[in-house]
Amino acid sequence: MSESKPIRLVAFASGGGSNVRAIYHNIETGALHAELVGVISNNSQCGALVHARLHNIPAFHISRKQFDSDDDFVQKLFKVLTELKAELIVLAGYMKKMPEPVVRAYKNRMLNIHPALLPSFGGKGLYGHFVHEAVLNYGCKVSGVTVHLVDADFDTGAPVLQRCISVFDNDTPETLAARVLKEEHIIYSQAIQLFAEERILVDGRRVRILEKE
Ligand code: GRF
Repeated sequence: MSESKPIRLVAFASGGGSNVRAIYHNIETGALHAELVGVISNNSQCGALVHARLHNIPAFHISRKQFDSDDDFVQKLFKVLTELKAELIVLAGYMKKMPEPVVRAYKNRMLNIHPALLPSFGGKGLYGHFVHEAVLNYGCKVSGVTVHLVDADFDTGAPVLQRCISVFDNDTPETLAARVLKEEHIIYSQAIQLFAEERILVDGRRVRILEKE
């Protein structure tokens, strides 16, 4: 384990929060050299916020609906992220589009995870079970997971890590989703660890992974 300070991680989530829980678990077991310094959600009841509150991680319910303008919303996000001294932002099932000023400010320091091999089966409307349905309807033999940098659009940022998952003849969207999710819980922490070890070099759309010193 490196002697350096753990990377300060802020997670955004909207749903069940299994990825946030997996990240937390990997930090707790020492596999991931990070500190989860905050969890932010647009959904006050979401599993990720419940988990954060349970483990005394600062939990924030911040939704565009609470503000009169986009600008007020963005200012609030900046205020919280600055106070938390966020070094890396991870979107883990965050169902809202991150406002562009925030994306720009955290360029190459904001990640998303998508339950398919991008650029296939990504973009607006392709989330959750819709992704796995589309993969099966197309007849794909492999699907997978993509961890990517966040840019201004949905699912279009450069991939950081990708992993394949075989599609079986008897798969349903549910069985495929379960295998993909299991891999998400591994690969997201691996990607974060690369940032923690400062082994990521962004070269246009090529995200290069530097050898360990
Ligand atoms: C995951 O499948 C992730 O890839 C997608 O949303 C889902 C979130 O699951 N972006 P969870 O809330 O982390 O359980």
